[in-house]
Amino acid sequence: MLELFSLALSILLCLLGAFAERTIQWTFIQNGTSGVIPVELITISPTLMLLYDRADGNPLLLPNGTRAWAALWNLETHTSTPLDTITDTFCAGGAFISNGTLVSVAGQPLSFEPGAPPPQDGRMGIRLFGPCVSPTGENCTVFEDPANIHLKVVRWYPTGLRLADGSLMVIGGSTTDTFYNPASIAQSNFEFFPSKDANPRPSQFLVDAEPVNMFPRSFVLPSGRIFMVANNISQLYDVETNTETRLPPLPNGVRVANPFDGTVQLLPLSPPLYEPTVLACGGSASNDAIPAIDFSNLDPATNQCSRITLTPAGIAAGWEVERMPETRILTQSVILPNGDVLLINGAHTGYSGYPSVGNANLTSSNSANPAMRPLLYRTSFPAGQRFTQDGLSASTIPRMYHSSASITAKGVIMVAGSNPQPEVVAPGTPGFAFPTEFRVEYLTPDFILNNAPRPVIENAPKQLLFNQQATLKVTVPPSLLQGTMQVSLMDTGYATHAQNSNSRVVFLEHTLEGGSLTITAPPNNFIYPPGPAWLFVVADGVYSEGVMLMVGDGGNPPRPNQGIEIATNSI
Ligand SMILES: *[C@@H]1O[C@H](CO)[C@@H](O)[C@H](O)[C@H]1NC(C)=O
Ligand SMILES: *[C@@H]1O[C@H](CO)[C@@H](O)[C@H](O)[C@H]1NC(C)=O
Ligand SMILES: *[C@@H]1O[C@H](CO)[C@@H](O)[C@H](O)[C@H]1NC(C)=O
Ligand SMILES: *[C@@H]1O[C@H](CO)[C@@H](O)[C@H](O)[C@H]1NC(C)=O
Ligand SMILES: *[C@@H]1O[C@H](CO)[C@@H](O)[C@H](O)[C@H]1NC(C)=O
Ligand SMILES: *[C@@H]1O[C@H](CO)[C@@H](O)[C@H](O)[C@H]1NC(C)=O
Repeated sequence: MLELFSLALSILLCLLGAFAERTIQWTFIQNGTSGVIPVELITISPTLMLLYDRADGNPLLLPNGTRAWAALWNLETHTSTPLDTITDTFCAGGAFISNGTLVSVAGQPLSFEPGAPPPQDGRMGIRLFGPCVSPTGENCTVFEDPANIHLKVVRWYPTGLRLADGSLMVIGGSTTDTFYNPASIAQSNFEFFPSKDANPRPSQFLVDAEPVNMFPRSFVLPSGRIFMVANNISQLYDVETNTETRLPPLPNGVRVANPFDGTVQLLPLSPPLYEPTVLACGGSASNDAIPAIDFSNLDPATNQCSRITLTPAGIAAGWEVERMPETRILTQSVILPNGDVLLINGAHTGYSGYPSVGNANLTSSNSANPAMRPLLYRTSFPAGQRFTQDGLSASTIPRMYHSSASITAKGVIMVAGSNPQPEVVAPGTPGFAFPTEFRVEYLTPDFILNNAPRPVIENAPKQLLFNQQATLKVTVPPSLLQGTMQVSLMDTGYATHAQNSNSRVVFLEHTLEGGSLTITAPPNNFIYPPGPAWLFVVADGVYSEGVMLMVGDGGNPPRPNQGIEIATNSI
């Protein structure tokens, strides 16, 4: 009997072993204050993060004593250096483009700081940054020429997406500050930088997604077409032919774009077929015909994650529903080099937006019940076993609306911000449950915290051309050689409003011989849109520091197709 039992147990353990994965212990470490709120947080170099906020009473000052609303965060000193900006960058979208410049677009018109010289209206703003080679950010500046380089129309809350030709697609947004985005104020259209058309392209999809269509969740698929989710609907957009094709709606009435901010992530693309699957987690199933004043910040968010594979078979199968162990809204998804997705920040109840729900006057926040403990989605596990909070402890700092999180080149997750109200509010102010939060935390995996042996990329090429091989020198600790090895090419994304826009992991084919790692670049610009990338080596779940390189020819957009055509089932 006992023997039978132990036999059953060992079979079970063996089955589980097929999905075994190192359980990383994660620790929040607080260090430094950001000086501005990283409403937008972008990993730009091995040592620096870029932070964009709004002009509104930030403690960080420019050399002449005026307040900054953009900064470079130094990951070694844990301090911010102000960046001079002309236009207001609040709630902008953006992406790196094919020549390595980070482009940020749109923003807000208002300045909340009394007496200060107002920034220029940011809504048509185009800001060009980098590449920044100085480890401290010396001489790295934001370039703006608002009179000559600007969007075609005003936009607030758009998504920025790097296309397969390396240029930026600017998706939707609003014309003004708002909770909902109805037809009277919505910019339900697309434009591009550099421009492709005389006028913005109207989008029936974005019209149909009103009034919950700000920051539409968007990804470039291995077919080169764009997958988009907003409100409770999804679609495929073909940039070349300007055609929209409706795809299955999100199940169970769940809505995921702002102000019902769920987070959507493209899961890792793997050779040889690079079949794309997207995961949409959290948001709200509230009725979008109900006005904000009739909502409460105690309305439960959804615990639904749904995923769909964007191939003909996957679409026929539809969205597969999984349930998180808790409800979540305003959550950021941070994809890790091993392909798992960390769900972090946000709240269990309420909505996005400035205080506008019926009971917000009590807290000055549209959301309540902060989600303090991150949640890990283990991508390679079978359905039903993917969520875990093992190894993940809670932070003590609520990260509500206007918080962000992004993986750094060092491999820790930088977590910062939160300011659900339209001004800077000091801790302890009565009536404000969630004062403006400047403290920075790093969610740190045990192998970094304990200085345990990690894979090290000794020398990597500065550039990787599509479908070409490159050989790099790596050191993999012998203790990790038994486990699975992965080589990940990543865009760490432009984090804002519960969305890490452009974030992507492509697993590369590779062989390791001695200390020599030969990798094969993605076959073409559809699999990885040309532009900067981070290369990570993962051995038995332990990842190296990331090395930045340029994927593709590095030229100004638009770039012609590069690489080779492949058979992919991607729609
Ligand atoms: C301070 O410097 C910033 C950045 O150079 C400039 O935009 C702003 O106008 C200056 N303010 C004053 C009061 O001189
Ligand atoms: C914060 O960073 C400083 C500067 O690198 C370092 O000396 C200090 O030990 C850090 N504090 C914590 C709690 O890690
Ligand atoms: C920054 O610019 C100054 C003035 O042009 C120059 O002297 C300095 O070497 C530059 N620093 C870096 C790190 O490029
Ligand atoms: C999506 O939401 C709209 C209201 O905004 C509703 O009319 C429609 O039935 C919903 N569609 C699905 C598939 O749930
Ligand atoms: C807050 O809003 C609720 C719902 O609108 C209202 O009943 C209540 O009187 C308000 N409280 C304050 C302090 O304004
Ligand atoms: C990158 O391309 C954009 C668009 O053509 C251009 O404005 C920008 O100056 C370029 N950046 C560099 C570093 O050449």
